[in-house]
Amino acid sequence: MTASPVRSKDEIPDAEYRKMVLTLMDKQASREVATAEVFGQCVLHAPTVEDKIRITRFQHEELKHFQLLARIMSELGVDMDAYVRDRQRAGARFTGDEADMQIQDWIDATLFNFMIDRAATFQLTEYTKGSYLPLAQANDVILKEEEGHKSFGEAGLEQMCQDPAARAEIQRRFQKWFVASMRIFGRAGTPGNQYCLRVGLKTRDSGDVAAAYVDSIRPVMARCGLRFPERSELPLELPPQVDLSV
Ligand SMILES: [Fe+2]
Ligand SMILES: [Fe+2]
Repeated sequence: MTASPVRSKDEIPDAEYRKMVLTLMDKQASREVATAEVFGQCVLHAPTVEDKIRITRFQHEELKHFQLLARIMSELGVDMDAYVRDRQRAGARFTGDEADMQIQDWIDATLFNFMIDRAATFQLTEYTKGSYLPLAQANDVILKEEEGHKSFGEAGLEQMCQDPAARAEIQRRFQKWFVASMRIFGRAGTPGNQYCLRVGLKTRDSGDVAAAYVDSIRPVMARCGLRFPERSELPLELPPQVDLSV
């Protein structure tokens, strides 16, 4: 077992490391393609042609992210054509419930982009520092595009929240999207997390990554006049280091 860089598949030290790299890539790859599918729903509700163009560009970029990962996964022997064909549909990938991920209007689309797309970005930022260099390098490329996605949801949310009625509706729906975004980080302190830290596949426990994500949206929440749900209102256990104040 090693925390030194693994430069290619031929340097993978053992079966356990290989299995974990594949698990991390499976999670990310399925989210890249699921995000592209949800953006497809968002296009229907985009209020202007400029917004539709931007969302379809994001959608295209998510599919390219998938292809970058697919190349590395197929090097490790995964049949990626079968993977795409047989995978779960988008909603189930995020919440476990397909019906849950329906985008009803532009508010849902904005909340999806603001929270889910951003949380995924925080997760993959970890992988850019990870010891499996093919994955780290792919995520360097992916991250550049994700930065652009991040600012879009943020600006849209701030604009919508200037209207008190829209702000109240956003607050009402906030919890659902927040919970789905927190699920992306997985549980903190698990044996899998500890293994990833030991072999350098991650540099922080998922509780710390989740806390950093919440820190990043806090200033936006303050500008929008929104609040986080109470810890006791949430149907999942949050890592203790997550700060829900605004
Ligand atoms: Fe992506
Ligand atoms: Fe994205």
